[in-house]
Amino acid sequence: MPGQERLALQSVLTEIGDLAEREIRATLLFGVPRRKDEAGSWASDPNGVVQQSVEAVKDQFGDDILVFTDVCLCQYTTHGHCGIVKGGEVDNDETLKRLAEVAVSHARAGADMVAPSAMVDGQVKEIRHALDAAGFKNVGILAYAAKHASSFFGPFREAVFSSPKFGDRRTYQMDYSNPEEALREVAMDVKEGADMIMVKPALAYLDLIYRAKQRFRMPTAAYNVSGEFSMVKAAAEQGWLDEKPVVLEILTAIKRAGADLIISYHAKEAARWLPG
Ligand code: PBG
Ligand code: ZN
Repeated sequence: MPGQERLALQSVLTEIGDLAEREIRATLLFGVPRRKDEAGSWASDPNGVVQQSVEAVKDQFGDDILVFTDVCLCQYTTHGHCGIVKGGEVDNDETLKRLAEVAVSHARAGADMVAPSAMVDGQVKEIRHALDAAGFKNVGILAYAAKHASSFFGPFREAVFSSPKFGDRRTYQMDYSNPEEALREVAMDVKEGADMIMVKPALAYLDLIYRAKQRFRMPTAAYNVSGEFSMVKAAAEQGWLDEKPVVLEILTAIKRAGADLIISYHAKEAARWLPG
């Protein structure tokens, strides 16, 4: 992905400091583990790269930076699926247990909010219970509520080595042609205790951002994903689009649709471009 890097632990603080200076006060951390296995063990390792990064960031920046962590297994499993695979399929119950362990390990490191992205039924409820039981009542949940089986995730998967080794993610991610189902997913996550909901991708799903915001009146996040980012970068590099106004137009459209928070790979540049 153009201009995007996988950061070593030491560079995380520099990067976050840089963001803070530009008044970007929240970050979402993803891990790329040193090793993968069937159970994605490294995802919940107390010395894992995400856990160590969270600790370092909270140590240095305290409440100046809100730290979200992505809770999933796909970067950590050898098969590249978002859960525990049994008989060629993601096993719901086994996956829920693992996701809860991952979420608690992030909370223990100091995460302000965890963001479960595996799209496994019941993940919000399971994580809420596990967090409460471990004494983390104040750690919130940003639910990847309407996350679609999208081809716009390609550049991200390449960047973090998380492409599924067999099959695809359509058995757990949403069918993008069925908006009512997407809204039912959001409703479930709200009922299970999500503090904030998310629609993903964003640009091709403005209708769903709008509907989710109108229907649930929840704090709503939109994830402007890797493919949406890369299209703009590629066209700008070719001289076909003027990047700055295009990015501001896209971010404004996402905001106009109803997003309270936008996750964007353009954040750093946009912060420079936006009027102060
Ligand atoms: C998987 C995950 C995905 C992204 C973040 N976490 C999607 C996927 O591989 O199915 C995509 C982010 C992006 O494209 O920017 N849990
Ligand atoms: Zn995943």
